[in-house]
Amino acid sequence: MTLQVFTAVTGAGWESELVGALDRDDHGVTVVRRCVDVSDLLAAAATGTGQAALLSAELRRLDGDAVARLHAAGVAVVGLVEPGDEPTGLRLRQLGVAHVLPADADPEVIARALRDAVAGVPAAGHDVADPRAALPLPGTPVQPEPPTGGRGRVVAVWGPTGAPGRTTVAVGLADEAARLGTSSLLVDADVYGGVVAQVLGLLDESPGLAGAARQAGTGVLDGPSLVALTWAVRPQLQVLTGPARADRWPELRPGAVGTVLEEARRVAELTVVDCAFSVEDDEELSFDTAAPRRNGATLAVLEHADTVLCVSGADPVALQRCVRALDQLRDVLPGVEPELVVNQLRRGPVPGDPRREIGNALERFTGRRPRWFLPADRRAIDAALAAGRTLAEVAPGSALRTELRTLAAELAGAGVPAAGRRGPWRSRRAG
Ligand SMILES: Nc1ncnc2c1ncn2[C@@H]1O[C@H](COP(=O)(O)OP(=O)(O)OP(=O)(O)O)[C@@H](O)[C@H]1O
Ligand SMILES: [Mg+2]
Repeated sequence: MTLQVFTAVTGAGWESELVGALDRDDHGVTVVRRCVDVSDLLAAAATGTGQAALLSAELRRLDGDAVARLHAAGVAVVGLVEPGDEPTGLRLRQLGVAHVLPADADPEVIARALRDAVAGVPAAGHDVADPRAALPLPGTPVQPEPPTGGRGRVVAVWGPTGAPGRTTVAVGLADEAARLGTSSLLVDADVYGGVVAQVLGLLDESPGLAGAARQAGTGVLDGPSLVALTWAVRPQLQVLTGPARADRWPELRPGAVGTVLEEARRVAELTVVDCAFSVEDDEELSFDTAAPRRNGATLAVLEHADTVLCVSGADPVALQRCVRALDQLRDVLPGVEPELVVNQLRRGPVPGDPRREIGNALERFTGRRPRWFLPADRRAIDAALAAGRTLAEVAPGSALRTELRTLAAELAGAGVPAAGRRGPWRSRRAG
């Protein structure tokens, strides 16, 4: 069966010749509609009559959102640029177009690219109610090359509802990694209301992550523009703040957030992302494939991260929530293998030795043992919150700070500092 293709290559002199060549010869491709602009293309995609779109970079109003919507409609995308126009090719790739070719490529090569792009599309596409529809399709590189060169690591700090301490861990991890000499970028991606700016005492009026996502969505984000959007808390610690208000989550489009993280790999050795808890379907919106999905940004972060930390509280209710959240995550993103961090460990809510009992319970119900235990340390936390500073600044000798430093040393690949090996709450890898 031939591939049904939409074209949207307006503004280019070679359009009719190319369409003619694709149609005329036996390339296994049929052009079912020649679209005049992005709206026309999106409307055509929604009809379900084509499997791929061939578009040119000059198309007006083409942005990352439009590409994501085409993907969500099950339409693979191939981009054409003027021969030799590398910057435009890079821009298209930043918008999420994995296959980019020069416009003078042989029609057979273009037809093959269309088939390859479609081969990455699952037969039925993700169900429209599935938040994975907001993610790049399987087979679509999350960061199509080029650009390359971003070698920094991305750690997502995630966990169940109930405020187990994601922000505390994310801030502590980024701060301690920076103090160990690893250049760190802390990103607040909590779509239910980011508070990293307040925790660090920053007067946040910067566009932060939303600004970076906006630039990524139009294909103009690069290292310097990303750095310009961050706060330099210290030379080794940059902060990209979250949306100023929780209701501004639609600004964090998943594809754009993914691009921001890939750019972050170039500007910092370690990027730590404070995520929201929820990975569930946005079912009220599910009838509309093009509707933004609140949890799509969280899923994009979890997909892009090299390491996902799941932070759990240390009481029976928190543990139950952690087990459920991991179940849910496995359903939505089966490829993600989180590392468990048990926070607020204390005697009382769990009988016996809390570390052993919690470790056993989590292993039994989730199949994995916690890798780190962080003590409850209200006094140190309160001192930090009161001053809008980090634990290292206001409670450098606290047990919680010591364990966060150990966690940071392990995740940043630095040596574990001698100080981090002392104390009653010594962190230990559990198998
Ligand atoms: N180890 C700890 N010891 C004492 N208090 C803690 C500890 N970790 C976190 N807290 C406190 O628990 C509360 C929740 O922590 P935090 O804001 O880090 O959680 P969260 O998972 O990011 O929550 P949210 O869902 O609001 O984003 C805060 O008041 C924080 O100061
Ligand atoms: Mg938080």
